[in-house]
Amino acid sequence: MGSEQGLKLVRLDEDGIDLNFRDDVLAGLRQDPKAVPARWFYDEAGSRLFEEITRLPEYYPTRAEKEILSTRGAEFAELIGPGRAVVEFGSGSSVKTPLLLRAIDPAAYVPLDISGDFLRASAAELAAKFPGLPVYPVEADFNREVELPGAVAGMPKLGFFPGSTIGNMVARTAVDLLRVMRATLGENSQLLIGMDLIKDVAVLEAAYDDASGVTARFNLNLAVRINCELGGTIPVDALRHVARWNDDYARIEMHLEATRPIAFEVAGEAFAMAAGETIHTENSHKFDRRMANVLLLAGGWTPVKRWTDGEGRFSLILADATRPRGAP
Ligand code: TRP
Repeated sequence: MGSEQGLKLVRLDEDGIDLNFRDDVLAGLRQDPKAVPARWFYDEAGSRLFEEITRLPEYYPTRAEKEILSTRGAEFAELIGPGRAVVEFGSGSSVKTPLLLRAIDPAAYVPLDISGDFLRASAAELAAKFPGLPVYPVEADFNREVELPGAVAGMPKLGFFPGSTIGNMVARTAVDLLRVMRATLGENSQLLIGMDLIKDVAVLEAAYDDASGVTARFNLNLAVRINCELGGTIPVDALRHVARWNDDYARIEMHLEATRPIAFEVAGEAFAMAAGETIHTENSHKFDRRMANVLLLAGGWTPVKRWTDGEGRFSLILADATRPRGAP
């Protein structure tokens, strides 16, 4: 990608069509098996449905992570200490971030997000809750190294990446991101990262296929969005939400499965799906202690401490930026 294009986060054509969305969808539908990158879930309706997911009785990760954050404050304070600049990857959730900030007495808060709107909203909310804390929002794609504001240059950093979002990446991409985070945060930095745990398959599948159908609507909204924004003719009623455990890859996969043979167009291009064929829309990898450690080490982070919720469903791991040194 050229450097000029690299700076342009959104490309629109003269009809207002998001060309990155169109290119991703067309390339994904031409593949076999079909797949669309999960980042396109989050239009306005998708973001609202996602908020709803985090409150579902079956969706335990948000509650489990909040439990850890609200009960382990004294240990965070001891292991992280005061005076760090907290750099959050993704717009801060209104509940999780304050729990951390309250525990550790940081010197600054730097939320990073690709969406300026989310960023400004969450930065303003945080600043109102913590009047003495300097907040420096940065609109950036954190998948690449980000230059942090000069005001925090001399402070040691704590990266915060909750929600097991790392699990939505395949291992190669996750390692790339961890390494980029290390470059963004610099020497002597720490990372506090949420990683969901491998558990009973029925519990996992229910978390991604709730009884009230919110996650199904979230998944199907992608097809609705393709129809609305890219002149699609996908028969949404012939698609069914599927969430299934892939044991080899230790992940929940979300798919849209054709319940009958269908043919449709997207942006003028023709596609067909056989009955039972799917479009793969999301992965949510789950970890055990060793897998989590290996992933962090591969990304340049040395695990220091691991916490789980009372029911052992979710983990929050503190890691130090690994100093390169001779080792066998
Ligand atoms: N990272 C969280 C998880 O995998 C949240 C999430 C991302 C999610 N994409 C999702 C939840 C799709 C449900 C459906 O659980």
